[in-house]
Amino acid sequence: MVIVNKYTVFGNPIAQSKSPTIHYMFAEQANLIIEYDRTVATPENFIPALTNFFNNANAKGCNVTSPFKEQVAKWVNDLSAAAKIAGAVNTVIKKEDGTFLGDTTDGSGLVQDLLRLGVQIKGARILLLGAGGAARGVLQSILALEPACLIIANRTEEKAKQLASLVPRDNFVGVGLHQLLEVQQPFDLIINSTSASLTGELPAIPESVISSSACVYDMSYADKPTVFLQHAQKLGVQDTFDGLGMLVGQAAESFYLWTGFRPDVSPVIDELKSHL
Ligand code: ATR
Repeated sequence: MVIVNKYTVFGNPIAQSKSPTIHYMFAEQANLIIEYDRTVATPENFIPALTNFFNNANAKGCNVTSPFKEQVAKWVNDLSAAAKIAGAVNTVIKKEDGTFLGDTTDGSGLVQDLLRLGVQIKGARILLLGAGGAARGVLQSILALEPACLIIANRTEEKAKQLASLVPRDNFVGVGLHQLLEVQQPFDLIINSTSASLTGELPAIPESVISSSACVYDMSYADKPTVFLQHAQKLGVQDTFDGLGMLVGQAAESFYLWTGFRPDVSPVIDELKSHL
């Protein structure tokens, strides 16, 4: 009898999630037969639903998305170093001994996508816009690749400072968006992690901050360039990228953690792009 390993993604809302499509494509590459569902939950029934899912002996792991990433971090037995810094988990791995490890693959999804796109991180001057969960989740992975500096700029200055204080380093600081006017040297890479793109808004950053030679990356994606990417293009930036590759990259890292197989992300990104 073929044993089919089970996975799911918890979230609310979750009907729109592309995770099952992505993981079925990975499984095909790996020659594995898996079952990957979407599970909607409420804050009240999330933990019972999670426990119930893992009561099935074939359940090997799950993804967790908004708004449960912090709640699940408290439920798992162990946290990876990245998940500790992020204070959030997007991947749960059931270990051989029956305990649960919580990890976050958003950061490695982002840096793998940047490297795939040929964007240099080591030695680069990087500006990260936003200091919410999305920024927190990628900090560690960016810093691990040794940029020359990382500046977190946020509408609410205090949150940027708090985030920077999590990983004390001379070349890593948190500032308010308005303080960017004081930055003299241009950035090599500007990453928008704010949720502004989702509502079609532009973070209020001075135009002088976006040099035409910079790479501009938006963690959001849509069927057309986000307002932030359109803004950068109007300012003459050639290298603009959206977050679809990060979405596939973080999923690939989860798949690897569960199965030991590293999927080829490029055909999956192309396939998703053709259906946006
Ligand atoms: P996520 O998990 O997507 O990061 P979040 O934790 O709610 O969501 O954080 C949203 C981030 O986007 C915050 O940094 C927020 O800035 P504030 O801390 O000042 O609220 C930022 N953000 C949202 N809308 C924005 C806008 N219109 N302009 C600038 N920043 C914005």
